[in-house]
Amino acid sequence: MLIDFIVGARPNFMKLAPIINQLKNFDLNFKFRIIHTGQHYDKNLSSKLIEQLNLPKPDFNLKVGSGSQAEQTAKIMLGYERILKKTPSNMAVVFGDVNSTLACSITAKKNGLKVCHIEAGIRSGDIYMPEEINRIVTDSITDYFFTTSENANRTLINNGVCNKNIFFVGNLMIDTLINNKKNIKKPKIVDKFLDKDKKFILITLHRPSNVDDKKKLNNFLNQINESSTNIIFSAHPRTMKILDKGFINKNKILICKAQPYFEFLWLLENSCAVITDSGGVSEETTILNKPCFTMRDSTERPETVEIGTNILIGSSPEKLKDIFKLIRNEDFKVGKIPKKWDGKTAQRIIKILNKIASNE
Ligand code: UD1
Repeated sequence: MLIDFIVGARPNFMKLAPIINQLKNFDLNFKFRIIHTGQHYDKNLSSKLIEQLNLPKPDFNLKVGSGSQAEQTAKIMLGYERILKKTPSNMAVVFGDVNSTLACSITAKKNGLKVCHIEAGIRSGDIYMPEEINRIVTDSITDYFFTTSENANRTLINNGVCNKNIFFVGNLMIDTLINNKKNIKKPKIVDKFLDKDKKFILITLHRPSNVDDKKKLNNFLNQINESSTNIIFSAHPRTMKILDKGFINKNKILICKAQPYFEFLWLLENSCAVITDSGGVSEETTILNKPCFTMRDSTERPETVEIGTNILIGSSPEKLKDIFKLIRNEDFKVGKIPKKWDGKTAQRIIKILNKIASNE
C-alpha cells in the first residue's frame, strides 16, 4: 500500500513531523511519499520548518504559491491529479483545514484513493471561514477519521459517521511541541528589544477577518500602542503585506516577521500572555499553561476554552484595553490538559495506519 502524506501550509508540517520521526520504530505495512503543495513558500513557514522539524525533502512540490481561494485550490487539484495519473497511490492522509487539505482530499477521492483526515470533526460553526468549508467538505468524503477531542467524535457521530471509522488519537501539535522543547531558541531580534524589562505579550494575527481590512488592522495597532507591557507581534506574511508601513513602532512594540518554529516556541514559552487568532497557538498555550486571548467570536477547538487557558474575546480591537488590564493584574484563568494531548498521538496513528494497510 502506498500512502501520500499531504502538506502545504505551516501547521501541516508541524502535524506530519512526529509521524515521520516515529515511523522508524515500526515494522511498516505501507510505503509513503510526502507531497508538498507549495501553498506556503515563505522560508520561515516552509523550508526552515522542514529543516527544523527534521522532515525529509518532500517527494513532490507542486509549488502552487498564493492566489484566490479558487485559484489556489484548483492549482493544487490539477498538480496532485497529474502526480496520481503518472504514479498512482492508495491513500491520501490530509491534515487540518487548509486549502491543500480540501483540494487533495477531493482529488484523491475522485481518483479512487481512500482519504484519511487527521484532525477530523472539528467545527467553528462559522461558515464564512474558508477553513470551516474545508473541514465540512473534507469530512464528507473521508474514509478514516482521526480526531483530537471527544467534541470532534460527537460531531462526527451526529453527522452520521460510523463509529468504527473514528479514531480518537489525540493532538499531533502537542507531540511536536513536546519533542522540540529541548530545541527552543531565542530569536536574535529580541535581545536588543527586551533590554531591561523582560516581560512581554506575544501577538499573532493572520485571519482574513482580522487583517485584510487595513482600517481594522490600523485600529488594532493603535490599540496595542496603549499597552504598558512590552509587545512582540510576530506577523504572518499575509499580515505583513497589509500592515501600514507608516506605523511608528513605539519603544514597547516589536513587529517582526513570522518566526521559525524553535524561535516561535521561545516567544510562546517566555511571554506573559498571548493574544492570537490562531487555533493551533491556542492549543500550544493550553499545554504550556500560558494565558491566551483569542481574537475571534468562535473556535473549532472548544476544549482550549472549556479545559485550557484560552478565552474568546471577539475580534473588536477596542476589547484590548480590558485585556491589557487583566494581563497587568495577572488575572488569569487556570487550565488543565485535554485527554490524549500527551505526546503519543503519532504512535497511535501509525499503529492504526498499519492495521488499515494490512486489511486493504
Ligand atoms: C493558511 C490557512 C489557515 C492557516 C494558515 C497558517 C487556508 C484557507 N488558510 O492561511 O487556515 O491558519 O495558513 O499559517 O488554507 N503568503 C506569503 N508567503 C507564504 C504564504 C502566504 O507571502 O509562504 C501571503 C500571500 O500574500 C498569500 C497570503 O499570505 O496570498 C495568504 O496565504 P494563504 O496560504 O492563502 O493563507 P494563509 O493566510 O497563510
